[in-house]
Amino acid sequence: MSGAAAVPGPAPESAAEPDRVVLVTGGAGGIGAAVCRRLADHRTTLAVADRDAGAAREIALEVRSAGGRAEPFGCDLSRPEDVEALLDGVVGQFGALHGLCTVAGSIRRGDVTELTPADWRATFEDNLDSVFLTCRAAIPHLTRAGGGAIVTIASGWGLRAGRRAAAYCAAKAGVVMLTQAMALDHAPAGIRANCVAPGDVRTPMLEREAGQLGCPVEQFYAEAADRPLRRIGEPREIADAVSYLLGEEASFVTGAVLTVDGGGTL
Ligand SMILES: NC(=O)c1ccc[n+]([C@@H]2O[C@H](COP(=O)([O-])OP(=O)(O)OC[C@H]3O[C@@H](n4cnc5c(N)ncnc54)[C@H](O)[C@@H]3O)[C@@H](O)[C@H]2O)c1
Repeated sequence: MSGAAAVPGPAPESAAEPDRVVLVTGGAGGIGAAVCRRLADHRTTLAVADRDAGAAREIALEVRSAGGRAEPFGCDLSRPEDVEALLDGVVGQFGALHGLCTVAGSIRRGDVTELTPADWRATFEDNLDSVFLTCRAAIPHLTRAGGGAIVTIASGWGLRAGRRAAAYCAAKAGVVMLTQAMALDHAPAGIRANCVAPGDVRTPMLEREAGQLGCPVEQFYAEAADRPLRRIGEPREIADAVSYLLGEEASFVTGAVLTVDGGGTL
């Protein structure tokens, strides 16, 4: 028998922290799926919402087969009726909502002379209307749960302009300010609202951008790596920031904008 005395370790997390229900929008995309994988644990129930219902189902199945709890919800987050139905579905099924991460978004590259009014509208719908509508429907439930956390995903281009992405830059700047306005308005209800501003991250969106600009993907990635840390980001690195801001470790953090961009906005 070993002579080493057993050293009591810290109490397991499950004993210290209650179960939580977290809604992730855009949960089927590159960053959204990474957020779902990162948050999935024994005490978290995930609602995976995306316009691509089949892909949301695949992510939920993946989380479940790894031992987590997840349910897919197909919806268009730019439609108020879809968002109301989503929140009714989540709270109806799980009884409460404690956290929200708004990841859904899309990009159409172009300067203002290249973008059509339809491009402008769709970019605002997917990136900004979706955040407004989801938070509007979620906040009463977070309040009812005694408080909670919202994490929005903006972009470095919500803080500093980028070329040929005029609608996207404007919409993401709106996400930053909307997040801070919500942080002020809903702090008394115990709701924290913070924003993650990623730089270029290896996802299907980045690939589509290369296509929109007519640039070979590898060349586009190489140009995107021109930043202090000399590389693009991985979805997991954005998910780590989301996990921090959603969790207890960020209990005194609200209204913050956390750039996760390899120094790209410096
Ligand atoms: N990839 C990057 O380089 C990068 C950089 C900065 C910010 N972002 C932001 O991160 C977020 C995630 O981007 P990603 O790279 O994972 O892109 P992605 O295209 O892989 O995923 C986006 C997901 O959002 C969903 N979505 C879009 N509009 C929707 C709507 N109206 N209703 C429901 N679902 C909708 C899409 O179906 C898709 O699954 C976006 O908000 C994006 O603007 C990405």
